[in-house]
Amino acid sequence: MSKRYTITAALPYTNGPIHIGHLAGVYVPADIYARYLRLCGKEVLFICGSDEHGVAISMKAKKEGVTPKEIIDKYHHIIKDSFDSFGISFDYYGRTSSEVHHETAQEFFKTMHDNDCFETITSAQLYDEKEHQFLADRYVVGTCPKCQHTEAYGDQCEACGSSLNATDLIEPKSALSGATPSLKSTTHWYLPLNRYEEFLREWILEGHQKDWKPNVLGQVKSWLDDGLKPRAVTRDLAWGIPVPVAGGENKVLYVWFDAPIGYVSATKEWAKQNNKDWKPYWQDKETELVHFIGKDNIVFHCIIFPAVLKSMNDYILPQNVPANEFLNLEGQKLSTSKNWAVWLHEYLVDFPNKEDVLRYVLTANAPETKDNDFTWNDFQTRNNSELVAIFGNFINRVMVLMHKYYDGIVPSPHEQHEVDKQLLIQLSVAPDQISSLLNQYKFRAASQEMIQIARLGNKYLADEEPWKLIKTNPKRVATIMFTAMQVAASLATLSGPFLPHIAAKLIAMMQLEESSWEATKELPLINSGHILGKAELLFEKIEDEAIQLQQEKLG
Ligand code: MF3
Ligand code: ZN
Repeated sequence: MSKRYTITAALPYTNGPIHIGHLAGVYVPADIYARYLRLCGKEVLFICGSDEHGVAISMKAKKEGVTPKEIIDKYHHIIKDSFDSFGISFDYYGRTSSEVHHETAQEFFKTMHDNDCFETITSAQLYDEKEHQFLADRYVVGTCPKCQHTEAYGDQCEACGSSLNATDLIEPKSALSGATPSLKSTTHWYLPLNRYEEFLREWILEGHQKDWKPNVLGQVKSWLDDGLKPRAVTRDLAWGIPVPVAGGENKVLYVWFDAPIGYVSATKEWAKQNNKDWKPYWQDKETELVHFIGKDNIVFHCIIFPAVLKSMNDYILPQNVPANEFLNLEGQKLSTSKNWAVWLHEYLVDFPNKEDVLRYVLTANAPETKDNDFTWNDFQTRNNSELVAIFGNFINRVMVLMHKYYDGIVPSPHEQHEVDKQLLIQLSVAPDQISSLLNQYKFRAASQEMIQIARLGNKYLADEEPWKLIKTNPKRVATIMFTAMQVAASLATLSGPFLPHIAAKLIAMMQLEESSWEATKELPLINSGHILGKAELLFEKIEDEAIQLQQEKLG
């Protein structure tokens, strides 16, 4: 295992609030991973922030008749609050409008410029005569030449994941005026990705064939096989980071050039606030860099940003980029513009204190290997028949019986039966089983192993029926309850990465010390004589009415 981990989660655009798709694809898995590594005692820096440049922002500002600054300030706070509520445990959440970020991005550009890492190319680009504006990125919409999707943007097609140049689009239209653009000559700095083909092939396709996800390798291979072309890293726009070299007047850095550098700037800001050195997190070979992203971000994190890091010489490259596929909602693609989404800030109002329920459902049904569907019926079933009926029921039974029979003081066990021994063996191997899945970024399967522990505990109580034996065989009951307590204590730690609020509640309720992942392998986890706190319900049933309300809200 590595000495130190730098974990990044894609910086969300601050052009709107975030929804379940963001959470499922990026932030929940990244958070599970970060929390798990911290429980393993690793040095972890978990970084994110708001992506505040680019056309996504200026378009939204234009639509609402406000300044881009007003837009980013508004959504930065809404998004940050949602992350806080869902327990996404970033060590630092920055923003790309910060001074440190502007300086850092300009420094990258300048260094690369001085080291001849760019080519300048003058060419005809799409131009909107009515708006007097070059049309790059989301300012232009047209048909994707690769998959024929009719709403591809000037820099990328979200349907097939292709990265595009605006002039590649078939029948381009200005997103500002609807007009068919004309062509106008302009000069830009290009990153000659073709120079990096060899390096990328070797590093990813040869070096990471075994440990990167097939969906990620597949996309990388297809780009490399198509042949990489120089890509413009500057734009003729007003909103963004000024190009810091001669000839760059009235031009800004391409948002996808500056945004990933935001991971570095956020690290610098965090380091400054915490009296640390930022460099080891980005430049020490013993640091493991992991980027959590959605599949539409693969090209930027596996091709373009690594080319930038490589050309900067001192930087490490990502050890893995565990990109997820997309989450759909009730069979349809999530869409901000069509308001087909479950917004996190609304969920928090409709389902107070149920943050972990959504985390769990999104993990259990995560789009890890293919696109997946979120349905409210599935949400209800997972809550009622897994969290309530298995996890919650087990904990509640143990706690209530412990108080009823022993005033909440853990009894001493007597002779162990085979079932008790078997249960404890399964319990002692569970941490390694879950670890092995988490180390492979298999969060779905890991969450199911965690629930499996509760299921075992539940079955154990149902089979042993201590409530029937309490009068006739109190010694046996003491052994059963002591054993069941071990299961509960194990869950208090192992559920932490998945259900952080619930785990904290469980730890408080059982009056446990926070434990490490390693320590959960050493049984017993809780000793005779330990005094429990009072029993509280961890989960509650979600009724049909609440689900219907959500379904109607969508329709
Ligand atoms: N804002 C981008 C998106 O939502 C993600 C940026 S990730 C970063 O798709 F690497 F650029 F930060
Ligand atoms: Zn496409």
